[in-house]
Amino acid sequence: VFFGASSAYAQTYPTKPITMIVPFAAGGPTDTVARLLAQSMGAKLKQQILVENVGGAGGTIGAARAAKATPDGYTIFLHHIGHSTAPALYRKLSYNAIDSFDPIGLVTDVPMTLVARKDFPAKDFKELLAYVKANNTKVTYANAGLGSASHLCGMLFMSAIATDLTTVPYKGTGPAMNDLLGGQVDFMCDQTTNTTSQIKGGKIKVYGVTTKKRVPSMPDVPTLNEAGLPGFEVAVWHGMYAPKGTPKPVIDSLVGALQVALKDPTVKQRFADLGTEPVEEKRATPEALRAHLKADIDRWSPIISKAGVYAD
Ligand code: MLT
Repeated sequence: VFFGASSAYAQTYPTKPITMIVPFAAGGPTDTVARLLAQSMGAKLKQQILVENVGGAGGTIGAARAAKATPDGYTIFLHHIGHSTAPALYRKLSYNAIDSFDPIGLVTDVPMTLVARKDFPAKDFKELLAYVKANNTKVTYANAGLGSASHLCGMLFMSAIATDLTTVPYKGTGPAMNDLLGGQVDFMCDQTTNTTSQIKGGKIKVYGVTTKKRVPSMPDVPTLNEAGLPGFEVAVWHGMYAPKGTPKPVIDSLVGALQVALKDPTVKQRFADLGTEPVEEKRATPEALRAHLKADIDRWSPIISKAGVYAD
């Protein structure tokens, strides 16, 4: 191993700024979570944590960059449920979603919202369903590429209503939101961390949330289950990783900093305002993330294979 697991190295770690790779464009939901954590973890570690947005291919380009980074504790990686769907979606990944990384911990589970441009001709989910079924591929649906949460939600939505739409991929739902606000794209399924302020500002329409229960920060938005899509449920879990081979004492420092950040009142308040909350401490651990990732890869692979969706 480069640096041995010498405690001297770990005791002085970190001695320079840390890079946090975010596999989607700036301004999107993953970036929002990352910057909140980078701020708080950096304060704890007394070093700057710099977010680097490496978008493209539904998060797999950023994941590949993180997998190849030097395992010295100066590159960490934040990803979400897309890390567990990529192995089934991409036939030629240059990394292994489990073996190329050392897990740090789970971070937060974020609800998704079905949202449309402000003048989309449907006042509720029932009307949306009727319109989409009547117009199918004339309706445009934005996502952040194969492997993004917005892609996963869209794939599940289209199969639930047995209707195909025209998909418009972006490097993140930050840029996609710009087109939704401008009316260039019709609708998308995106995380409350990105849609809450636009919904509350009346700039986009919301038809439902994808969680079992309503979201406390938007109590009058029905769940899709209530609105007419029984059993439809997608929550976007997020995990933090380091490249495989990062010394254990360094991982321990990062786990400690993550757990402090998830208890940081500023982080908790911002998460609450954005419709989510930090995971409980016992889930912000390498063991919990490793188990969750493995279980989710096993869960999604058959569903994705059955849908026949993949990239060569
Ligand atoms: C996604 O759809 O996976 C995310 O919203 C992408 C992003 O964070 O921009």
